[in-house]
Amino acid sequence: MASQDKIKKLIDLRAEAKLGGGEKRIASQHKKGKYTARERIDMLLDEGSFEEFDMFMTHRCTNFGMEDTKFLGDGVVTGQGTIDGRLVFVFSQDFTVFGGSLSETFAQKICKVMDMAMKVGAPLIGINDSGGARIQEGVTALAGYAEIFERNILASGVIPQISAIFGPCAGGAVYSPALTDFIMMTEEKSYMFVTGPKVVKTVTGETISVEDLGGANMHASKSGVSHFKLEDEEEGIMLTRKLLSYLPANNLEEPPLVECTDPIDRMEDVLNEIIPDNPNMPYDMKDVIHSIVDDQEFLEVHRHYAKNIIVGFARMGGMSVGVVANQPNFLAGVLDIESSRKAARFIRFCDCFNIPIVTLVDVPGFLPGSGQEFGGIITHGAKLMFAYGEATVPKVTITLRKSYGGAHDVMSSKQLRGDLNYAWPSAEIAVMGAKGAIEVLHGRKLSELNDEEAAKFIEEQEKEYNEKFANPYNAASYGYIDDVIEPRNTRFRVIRGLQSLQTKKQVNPPKKHSNIPL
Ligand code: HXC
Repeated sequence: MASQDKIKKLIDLRAEAKLGGGEKRIASQHKKGKYTARERIDMLLDEGSFEEFDMFMTHRCTNFGMEDTKFLGDGVVTGQGTIDGRLVFVFSQDFTVFGGSLSETFAQKICKVMDMAMKVGAPLIGINDSGGARIQEGVTALAGYAEIFERNILASGVIPQISAIFGPCAGGAVYSPALTDFIMMTEEKSYMFVTGPKVVKTVTGETISVEDLGGANMHASKSGVSHFKLEDEEEGIMLTRKLLSYLPANNLEEPPLVECTDPIDRMEDVLNEIIPDNPNMPYDMKDVIHSIVDDQEFLEVHRHYAKNIIVGFARMGGMSVGVVANQPNFLAGVLDIESSRKAARFIRFCDCFNIPIVTLVDVPGFLPGSGQEFGGIITHGAKLMFAYGEATVPKVTITLRKSYGGAHDVMSSKQLRGDLNYAWPSAEIAVMGAKGAIEVLHGRKLSELNDEEAAKFIEEQEKEYNEKFANPYNAASYGYIDDVIEPRNTRFRVIRGLQSLQTKKQVNPPKKHSNIPL
């Protein structure tokens, strides 16, 4: 063959590969309101930066006449490119080829980009849109999944891994995204479940829709499997790019430092007024977060799940930070099973990737009750404590109002290696609130008094208790609080603290790995 013909053949093969499962199936994908695998990659990466691998790979299956049906690339588009000029690796499942189902070859392609990402230390983004294991292949497809799972596990804590679910993701296939750091799902177009509605009906008799069983709404608010709920794929693409802007490429790098045009000493007078006089009145902790971070920009993670705690990324003085904050506006900011799990996972992510943690505390305690105890609040609360206590990144804590009991210790207290612990003058740091304390301490006496006497006694005792404990100065007198600060000065004090902690070095004792209470 003449060299010009050889080049033409290459061009033709490339064109064929780019068509995936063909124009008809591409049209059907568009009709469902979904982009194709390649369109998604084009939107995600910097223009012209995509380098594709393994475009010519095809499956090797000969079962059920499969040898006669082959598509170049075999249903997944893989390669590398850049986002804001920074290297990333990507795979994008192509639903137009065998419904994006995973074959042995398909898995090998994904594993190759995962290995590359690990070799060079760059994030991995997986776009999922697949009917699961390729049924015609049988066990080799299952083995392919396991190869991917193992790589997800080994990459965990080494490179950031992000999963976008833009279509079906069912059966054991859900476990690859589940092993990654962040999952995002498009509303109405994506779903994740271990078994679909038909199997559920057969096994348990329950009738449930796809959306209710595994849609984006459910996973973002009930199960917490998904960190982000997306209106459409475009939102997911923008979110992925933004998320990566806060993160280092790998665990050995520092997160990007960006130029900060928002004055670091910006005073926020409104913060001096934000705490209501009545300690039982709520306020919105998000107002506090927005007012102290650079340019009011806060990327909230798990916005719809366990709303009593807020977690997310921001910048302070141009530095990436992970913010963890109790939310008095929801369940009074109490710590429960879900909020403990949510925050613990976020803190561990930040610690893996050298992102300092800023904690804003206003917590009445752990949620009491049989529901919580039966559900194992002891173990789940311990996760949060473990995550804070194990983390070696810089930790700056501000106590705004309540900080009671075990929840005080848990929320990045000094003794869990909080580096800088500040409090507002409105802080109340004690074993428990006045009412509960008086009932415990004076229960017998109260039972001997009539109602009027009891009310007077409680009032007197509450006054004394509050004078002693409902303030930050008792804790500050022990050095547990480094300084009591004016609320409007919070941004400046946190940034200055973070700047001084930039060179912090802290190492945990050598071990194979810790045994976090799972
Ligand atoms: C082979 C598959 C496939 C699969 C879909 N296709 N899933 N081919 N293996 N798993 C093919 C279809 O035959 C069809 O081919 C094309 O992809 C598009 O599928 P449709 O059914 O026409 O699309 P749609 O109506 O949108 O339905 C999508 C779907 C459905 C809901 C995903 O295809 C489906 O239920 N697929 C099976 C899902 C499943 O049970 N997978 C196994 C899960 S268990 P043509 O040629 O007609 O276009 C699993 C185990 C993993 O994955 C274990 C890991 C440890």
